[in-house]
Amino acid sequence: MTSYVAAIDQGTTSTRCMVFSHDGKVVSVDQKEHEQIFPRAGWVEHDAEEIWRNTREVTAGALAKGDLDDKDIVAIGITNQRETSLVWDRRTGKPVYNAIVWQDTRTDRICAELEALGGGQDRYKATTGLPLATYFSGPKIRWILDNVDGARERAEAGDLLFGNMDTWLLWNMTGGPEGGVHVTDPTNASRTLLMDLSTLSWDESIAADMKIPLSMLPEIRSSSEEYGKVRQRGALAGVPIAGILGDQQAATFGQACLSVGEAKNTYGTGNFVLLNTGTEQVASQNGLLTTVCYKIGDKAPVYALEGSIAVTGSLVQWLRDNLGMIATAPEIETHARKVEDNGGCYFVPAFSGLFAPYWRADARGAIVGLTRFVNKGHLARAVLEATAFQSREVIDAMNADSGVPLKSLKVDGGMVGNELLMQFQADILGVPVIRPVVAETTALGAAYAAGLAVGFWAGEDDIRRNWAKDKEWAPSMDDAAREKTYAQWKKAVTRTFDWVS
Ligand code: G3P
Repeated sequence: MTSYVAAIDQGTTSTRCMVFSHDGKVVSVDQKEHEQIFPRAGWVEHDAEEIWRNTREVTAGALAKGDLDDKDIVAIGITNQRETSLVWDRRTGKPVYNAIVWQDTRTDRICAELEALGGGQDRYKATTGLPLATYFSGPKIRWILDNVDGARERAEAGDLLFGNMDTWLLWNMTGGPEGGVHVTDPTNASRTLLMDLSTLSWDESIAADMKIPLSMLPEIRSSSEEYGKVRQRGALAGVPIAGILGDQQAATFGQACLSVGEAKNTYGTGNFVLLNTGTEQVASQNGLLTTVCYKIGDKAPVYALEGSIAVTGSLVQWLRDNLGMIATAPEIETHARKVEDNGGCYFVPAFSGLFAPYWRADARGAIVGLTRFVNKGHLARAVLEATAFQSREVIDAMNADSGVPLKSLKVDGGMVGNELLMQFQADILGVPVIRPVVAETTALGAAYAAGLAVGFWAGEDDIRRNWAKDKEWAPSMDDAAREKTYAQWKKAVTRTFDWVS
């Protein structure tokens, strides 16, 4: 009998279940989008119960599509949108509020108050590797406890649990109110602003600053071990859940960036560049995050430097959904191909403020350089170029932090099918861009973490062996043109500052 590993990828816009074979190939997939809830400008929420329903549907769907049975699956890995925060009742399983999504900026005041306690934006950086920013989970938990009637009392009485989406799914899959396992892994925990990067445990003094009871935080285990078995009725009953990785760390693992100095860029709702720094934590001097890359069982944790960009693919969705400028996301390339260049137009999508390397909550989006000459094609190009320029900014920061310039960049995620963008990315970086055969590296990475725990894969060599190149784009822009357009982009970025006070 052939065996497989399943991965649940709970992302920002959809939930997927993918089944992988031993050689790392996709055997079957099912996917469902969930609603994006925007109650006010700057607020983004998800209905966690809808996500849990979708998770059950897509796991059943993936098995059915692949003509597979529960017994064919030896382990399940979970990977997830990171930072998105949920608080629920441990007895009823009911969320006390919608999940507050990583892009949400409502906690800017809470962050400012914490900065004012002393130490400014870097108050917790030495311990957590992170600046104080609306992006991370801790201030989101604080907001829920401060703003939902009765939540703080219930949390202090030990009735409420916190989790990112990995923990929410794991808890439900392993029984929910009847014995659900309340666990997370260090990659997710390292995005809360509450975890000590060196000890991989919750930092009591930071939790006290944020007024978050420790009793509501999940236990931090490794990224690859058996946490429990599926206990809910339906698909995958009895199968062990044996891997958890935040989605960007999962993509790094799935891209086989397993050695110091290897990096990947994932093109999803946002873009996230991660550089493996091995067992050493590298503190960034240039606006990057220090984060846990993975921790496999009892082995020492591996760390990464990360450049997080909030808005890339979601800018294309915005053009489709909010402006109706395109009917489908791939149409952006069709329009962009109608023109030679951006016509002088630059689009800085600072919809959630700016993340790396700026960390400015006061920034908001801007389109600059407009003239009567600019048409739909130029705008489409500016939208695509924004992704490449933002990636260049974080890779410049990475090169400065590591002192070793990147020689090539592995890419994955939804937008890597866009040839124009990939060529422009290579042009603007001045290094080759390489796409693997399996571009679904996020789900694959979570499958690897789970499969390693149950012995389906023997070790990291299996992962390296499964990685194969599909296509490479070589830079073709001359240096002067590259630096000229990049300088214009940098200038455009400054136009978004100081918008919100
Ligand atoms: O940190 C946020 C990130 O994990 C979201 O990833 O792929 O859902 O946009 P994605």
